[in-house]
Amino acid sequence: FKIAVLVSGGGSNLGSIIEHIKSGYIKNTSIEYVISDTPDVYALTRAKENNIKNIVLDKKIYKNNISDEILKIIQGKVDLIVLAGFFSILQGEIIKEFKNRIINIHPSLIPSFCGKGAYGIHVHEKTLEYGVKVSGCTVHFVDEGTDTGAIIIQKTVNVNAEDTPRELQLRIMEKEHEALPEAVKLISEGRVKVEGRKVFIK
Ligand code: GRF
Repeated sequence: FKIAVLVSGGGSNLGSIIEHIKSGYIKNTSIEYVISDTPDVYALTRAKENNIKNIVLDKKIYKNNISDEILKIIQGKVDLIVLAGFFSILQGEIIKEFKNRIINIHPSLIPSFCGKGAYGIHVHEKTLEYGVKVSGCTVHFVDEGTDTGAIIIQKTVNVNAEDTPRELQLRIMEKEHEALPEAVKLISEGRVKVEGRKVFIK
């Protein structure tokens, strides 16, 4: 089972997938590409340290063509695309070509605190501003919208009024590092079936 992992920053989610492949939790799976929309990020270091083919498609250069450029590289070469802390929006042909074969990890319980502009630390600022008592992360399929695809896995954390955005982010990231590898494992084992918005897990 071959995957491509798209990144933009630290790559802690990429790191977790790598660890879960090494430990044998995720079986018969290889990361064929790590593609970053930003140069010189630590996610690329993680790829290099693990001898994974890594490519930078600088979003400042590729702008709205980044989706087509990614498709050119991975078309026919991978079974699944994993957005792991990837801040560009995929659109166009790649969404059709990889229908129900692109997953994303979002650091809130979708449909709360998501959509355009809701990425990274901003999600946690909004979450704390609103005053919810439970948050968490969501792994979902990527469709034409932003954070709107069918939900595969959600994991929750408690939110304390005195939390800082960074404290909440770190608490949620621990759950992301469980949820994303779990989703990759389930999909690689053919145990995920999508019917409309419903995702059945065998
Ligand atoms: C974090 O805000 C995480 O919640 C979200 O993307 C950001 C960076 O993740 N998924 P990573 O460390 O680059 O995987």
